[in-house]
Amino acid sequence: MSEEAIVSKDVPKVNTQYRRIQTPIPPPEAIPILETLYRDEPRSMRGQPQVIWDHAEGFQVSDRWGNTWLDWSSGVLVANAGHGRPEIADAVCKQAKSELLHNYCFPSEIRSRLVDKLAGLAPDPLEKVFLLTTGSETTECALKLARTWGKAKSGNRKIAMVSFEGAFHGRTLGAQMMGGIPALKEWIVNLDPDIVQVPFPDGFRCPDTSFDFFLKTLEEKGFGPDRIAGVISETYQGGSAAFWPEQYAKDMYEWCKEHDIVLIMDEVQAAFGRTGKFWGFEHYGFVPDLACCGKGITSGLPLSAVIGRADLMDQYPPGSMTSTHTGNPVCAAAALANLDILVKEKLWEKAAQVGEVLHAGLNDIKGRYPDIIGAVMGKGMVAGVHMVKPGGIEPNPALAKAVVDKCVEKGLLMFSPVGFQGATVKIAPPLVTPEDAVREGLEVLEEAIKEVK
Ligand SMILES: Cc1ncc(COP(=O)(O)O)c(C=O)c1O
Repeated sequence: MSEEAIVSKDVPKVNTQYRRIQTPIPPPEAIPILETLYRDEPRSMRGQPQVIWDHAEGFQVSDRWGNTWLDWSSGVLVANAGHGRPEIADAVCKQAKSELLHNYCFPSEIRSRLVDKLAGLAPDPLEKVFLLTTGSETTECALKLARTWGKAKSGNRKIAMVSFEGAFHGRTLGAQMMGGIPALKEWIVNLDPDIVQVPFPDGFRCPDTSFDFFLKTLEEKGFGPDRIAGVISETYQGGSAAFWPEQYAKDMYEWCKEHDIVLIMDEVQAAFGRTGKFWGFEHYGFVPDLACCGKGITSGLPLSAVIGRADLMDQYPPGSMTSTHTGNPVCAAAALANLDILVKEKLWEKAAQVGEVLHAGLNDIKGRYPDIIGAVMGKGMVAGVHMVKPGGIEPNPALAKAVVDKCVEKGLLMFSPVGFQGATVKIAPPLVTPEDAVREGLEVLEEAIKEVK
């Protein structure tokens, strides 16, 4: 299944408890839909497996030609509470029928309920909540808040932002400048000289995971703490599923406190139970100054949030930090219903338990294919399987793509590989996925690796 071709491929039929593949992939009847999308959308929208989403429920996604996939994507780490949860759909319908579809920044009860709920779920000192629509807007907003804070504190000297190589914070200008993937920002030309990246201590591509290495890199690049307004990092890197080592996180927190540097955790992927804790940063034993949230906050509708320290969040006067769709009532209803499910079903605990099965299984597979799997990373219900050229750590994007495509043919849905040179097979099942379905997915993944290696 290449990125460009629209060709149905005959694949063996599959029929198990969780997967059903009955037609060529994509089904011949689906070709006009793909042709329309290819004609009317930019080329950049292609690249995902050609599964035509028709309905999705719990931890499965189906097309309308009788094929059902076990989902290891959650869309793109969105459907934490499961796809199409009736509680969320009902809340959305009820709100849509209530005659309030929009409220801008005018006060509304539903927005008050959502910000109160999020402020209540977030640990101190994360007290204030600013609702937005996309993850990129939250990282842009965090950049603005950290810099405004640093500037005001230092007579314009403390303006630099530190972020990480390999990081992804979204596709808008500031978010891309903080991102650590050079190819994504070539178009910007005039990069902000006060936004700097340092290596992410993943222990694989960057073997030195000491905090001293962080300090040394900054010094070499000419950034002392007196110039730095903020540090932003994904709680785990989306491209690899790597976390900071525990000691590194502890040292980072202390260092930021010591130098009055705003510590920002981009929790867009990590929050709402994904990693086996409600908030991803709980793995680090600290609370950041700002948390950027999105994706799993609703399990389906577009809504995001910056949650932060009151003194940081209150820097801008009335009317000057707003958004047209802030706390859209229908999206807010989805978020409230989703948060209720997450809390009631303690889905972060379930993610931790079932995640152990997932990670043990992935590590077993790595043990059987040590030559081509360089590393398995992640926690809870997120994992990155790093495919490499035999015997080394050189990334193997072709193999990663072949594995994902083969899994899709067998009824296990993943999005296309991500991360360094596109060689990471990323796994992110909905948190409601039962253990036996995870085991079935692991078998499929291993079969796929065996067949395409
Ligand atoms: C960690 C992280 N931050 C920010 C974003 C950007 O979110 P959005 O695509 O909603 O703008 C993403 C999206 O994948 C992400 O994974």
